[in-house]
Amino acid sequence: MKELLILVVVTIFTLATYYLVEPFAHSQMHKHVESEHFAYNDLPKLTATGDATRGAELVMGGAGCTGCHSIDVAGMPAPMDAVTAAASYGVNPPDLSNAGAVYDAKFLAELIKNPAHALLVEHKFDMDKGQMHPMVAFYGTGGDLDQEVADMVAYLQSIAVKPEELTPAIAYETVCGRCHANHYAKWTQIGTTPTFKYEKESLAFQIQVLEYQDSLVKYMGTLPPDLSIYIRSRGEHYIETFMENPQNYLKGTAMPRVGVNKHAAEQVIEYLKDSGDAKRHEREEVGKYVMIFMVIFAIFAILWKKQVWRDLH
Ligand code: HEC
Ligand code: HEC
Repeated sequence: MKELLILVVVTIFTLATYYLVEPFAHSQMHKHVESEHFAYNDLPKLTATGDATRGAELVMGGAGCTGCHSIDVAGMPAPMDAVTAAASYGVNPPDLSNAGAVYDAKFLAELIKNPAHALLVEHKFDMDKGQMHPMVAFYGTGGDLDQEVADMVAYLQSIAVKPEELTPAIAYETVCGRCHANHYAKWTQIGTTPTFKYEKESLAFQIQVLEYQDSLVKYMGTLPPDLSIYIRSRGEHYIETFMENPQNYLKGTAMPRVGVNKHAAEQVIEYLKDSGDAKRHEREEVGKYVMIFMVIFAIFAILWKKQVWRDLH
């Protein structure tokens, strides 16, 4: 009787800790942020339908995007190498080849008109105080501003890869790669680490990376962390909601809201899973064979048991 009572008391306390105290403590220590499904509801909808041909003229001409950004697929080279660009702007402006595939359209439109607002870094770049964002805002070339912006968005979408061709690497390198290295995937902020024949070349490359990082630290106030195993330390939900809006977790952080669309965000997560858990695909593959083995083994075990018992009866 006494034992039973002890069991009941222990069970009640265990359940109370598990279902009441632990979740409460967890919610206090780790803020839970719901995903907004990359809807960017704070940004205005596009009102005009874009014309990609006119957009091309603006991107490469009137709006001056190619004065800072390369567009590889359109044969537009980077005006300067990554290290020099970072020395001028704090960070290397990303290649725009796949911008139309990775960024939300509303976000792109707002970014072109008001970068600090779209990126949620107005606390760092206050125009009234003369703190200009390094990406200059576009004020139009004389026509209807919203039409011109929609034309540029349409152009960027027209040259980008199709959603099914958007690989995890393209997504990560375009959206996060200029700030975050990923050592396990051999990614540095200035590109993939090449295989070098001579030590001297390898050291020269490392110096370039360090110089780039110096500029980045000046711009961001801190070196953005290497994301190799962040998927493990933070988990998928955190990474997803963090990239959707870093301010939700770290108020006043220098990391901009990057404006990825849902599909690109999924590809970024995929990239981080591959780097943080390199044997993942192999393991899942082996798992299948283990399951098949178990089934065959079970059949034999049942047959064997039947045979043993048949002899006994
Ligand atoms: C004066 C140089 C300059 C010009 C001109 C410029 N940009 Fe940028 N752009 C930048 C810099 C610098 C960044 C990176 C800012 C950062 O990461 O904080 C950037 C970032 C971007 C991004 C990535 C934003 C994100 O969410 O990660 C896109 C897309 C972009 N620019 C498109 C354009 C388009 C389209 C135009 C023309 C309308 C343009 N830019 C004109 C310098 C420029
Ligand atoms: C313009 C530079 C920049 C870009 C682009 C950028 N980040 Fe960051 N990121 C930062 C900085 C700076 C920090 C450090 C923030 C801090 O400590 O305030 C950071 C921090 C992080 C962290 C760590 C958060 C934590 O809990 O410590 C994660 C995760 C992260 N970024 C993910 C991403 C992903 C994923 C992308 C691409 C979708 C991305 N970032 C794009 C600058 C950037």
